[in-house]
Amino acid sequence: MDTAVVIGVGPLAGLGGALCQRFAAMGLHVFAAGRTQAQVDNVAQSIRAAGGEATGVVADATDEASVAALFDAAGDGLAVAIYNAGNNQPGRVIDMDAEYFESAWRVCCFGGFLFGREAVRRFLPKGGTLLFTGASASMRGRANFGAFSAAKGGLRNLAQAMAKEYGPEGVHVGHVVVDGAIGGEKIMQGFPQYAEKLGEQGMISLEGIADGFAYLYNQPRRAWTFEIDVRTSVERW
Ligand SMILES: NC(=O)c1ccc[n+]([C@@H]2O[C@H](COP(=O)([O-])OP(=O)(O)OC[C@H]3O[C@@H](n4cnc5c(N)ncnc54)[C@H](OP(=O)(O)O)[C@@H]3O)[C@@H](O)[C@H]2O)c1
Repeated sequence: MDTAVVIGVGPLAGLGGALCQRFAAMGLHVFAAGRTQAQVDNVAQSIRAAGGEATGVVADATDEASVAALFDAAGDGLAVAIYNAGNNQPGRVIDMDAEYFESAWRVCCFGGFLFGREAVRRFLPKGGTLLFTGASASMRGRANFGAFSAAKGGLRNLAQAMAKEYGPEGVHVGHVVVDGAIGGEKIMQGFPQYAEKLGEQGMISLEGIADGFAYLYNQPRRAWTFEIDVRTSVERW
């Protein structure tokens, strides 16, 4: 059975959870990884209850040994690996301490290197699909988002470099720019007033984003896309 490894899995109604559900519905055994046992177990359990195959794994994307152990646990048959970890850490540059900037870089960029490297090591020589979750900040810097923009921009450039480095060896690397707020638990429960202001039409659908990842995964070798962007019809961009 082909396997999918998704890191950055929190609630079921989050992007990581939605990606796990989508790839399980496509017939893959999904390894759902995040730092909280209860969260990854909940995602895996709900996939199994729906008839799919899934395993929850506790892993920290910023820890080299933890990322390697995650891929070892997933074993053979790796078909797709998705780097979804990332925190939007706002703040003015002059108010930021060094640790704050560095922690944004660790989760949004450095972890992508650790994860991408381990995935490609296992994909070769057969090939596979490596996908990264981006954000508006992947494409442009914005006031009050210096740390996040620097990290997500770095992740995008890493992804593009890897796409060119390993494409010829059969590894399809893709990047999905999520341009706006996601209509998931993070915004709806964490920032209810913001969610209310945006309204349902102003938040990107989890299923719609998962469609984008599935589209990249299903592309034939002679017609690969590196990047897609996803936003609502009302997003100003
Ligand atoms: N939410 C939005 O509106 C939005 C908008 C644009 C782009 N994005 C991007 O979408 C992705 C996440 O989507 P989401 O907000 O819906 O969240 P999510 O996919 O529901 O959850 C992501 C989970 O990643 C886990 N995580 C964080 N740091 C980690 C680490 N170092 N190692 C392993 N797991 C880690 C966290 O769970 P634990 O704390 O349990 O580990 C978190 O709940 C991010 O890349 C983000 O930049 C989000």
